[in-house]
Amino acid sequence: MFDAKHIRSEFPLLGREVYGKPLVYLDNAATAQKPQVVIDTIARLYREENANIHRGVHLLSERCTELYENARRVVAEALGTSDTGEVVFTAGATASINTVAWAWGEKFVAEGDNVVVSEMEHHSNIVPWQMLCERKGAELRVLPFDDEGNLRVEMLDSLLDGHTRMVAITQASNTLGTIPDLRPIVERAHAVGALVLIDGCQGFVHSEVNVKELGCDFYAFSSHKLYGPNGVGVLYGRRELLEAMPPFLGGGDMVKKVTFERTTYADIPLKFEAGTANYIDAIGLAEAIKFLRGLDREGVMAHERALLEYATEELCKIEGLRIYGSAATKCSIVSFNVEGVHNFDLGAVLDRSGVAIRTGAHCADPVMAHYGVPGMARASFALYNTAEEVDALVAGVRKAVRMLK
Ligand code: ALA
Repeated sequence: MFDAKHIRSEFPLLGREVYGKPLVYLDNAATAQKPQVVIDTIARLYREENANIHRGVHLLSERCTELYENARRVVAEALGTSDTGEVVFTAGATASINTVAWAWGEKFVAEGDNVVVSEMEHHSNIVPWQMLCERKGAELRVLPFDDEGNLRVEMLDSLLDGHTRMVAITQASNTLGTIPDLRPIVERAHAVGALVLIDGCQGFVHSEVNVKELGCDFYAFSSHKLYGPNGVGVLYGRRELLEAMPPFLGGGDMVKKVTFERTTYADIPLKFEAGTANYIDAIGLAEAIKFLRGLDREGVMAHERALLEYATEELCKIEGLRIYGSAATKCSIVSFNVEGVHNFDLGAVLDRSGVAIRTGAHCADPVMAHYGVPGMARASFALYNTAEEVDALVAGVRKAVRMLK
């Protein structure tokens, strides 16, 4: 049985105080805290085993190479692919999506084509496509959502045509929490010959993922939201697509042979891993995944759902408070505003009570524009949060409202 109170002891940072009060960390959609096993793994690697990978015949280099390639196997297995060539380590989801928008986009998108994104995307799944469309004379099309935060999938057919090259869509909105049903989107995109990239940054944290069952062509996620270290992420791509794509960044480790006349490139995935990879953090990411997969995932998901329901119920009791996003399937993210109170002020008062939430536009300006607000307060719950912390949030919001209204 999953026990959030017990698991908290594995996350040392959660034991600290802020302003003399226990920390209530509810900014997990921005970045999650790390379990001791991840911290220890990274510290031990630097203390005992660090050496550059793929480049030495000496013991430490071979050892780090082995750990790095094992980490790739752990990620591949977690994603549901048996082919480690399909798993590219990147600097994070943003780098993963930019890799596709540049390497694939430069070759396969032309003037007159279009790319479809949704209105609820994070900037990292909008801007790289917008830049691609500007470079190529292609069109960026937007699948809207309704006021409850449901994607208007019925409008998809009017956006797709024979010139749609890519549909880039989130698995879970970082602002509204919406978990869209991706199946019809993938099917319809494929029916017109378009590819599908899924931004799994929030989705992978809150659910099991199988890229083959999702049927996606690319899948991107970051380690730091998944209880892993910062500065590393993953791009999954179907083998034939990655093989057909030219490299994005050039440099060491992504080549077979370099002469001044011509360079031949390494096979995938190394073709997309120019320079010294962030191997220590990739190994740390694998530890985080192993940690997560060692838990009762059904129990974790039920716990997060319960936190979401409880927080939603309690916040709704506050007069003038509006929650953005009430889709039937949501991950544990609640964005809200209180009438007459600026979200920054709300965040600052909560902070002084020890409660850390996110404020502002959440890297999702189009979502703010949809509701006509400059920003929102957002509480995002992780597996280690508790009902008592929801109480602290609600009490903090009530206090802020009393002070600021
Ligand atoms: N994308 C991160 C968030 O949603 C930073 O807060």
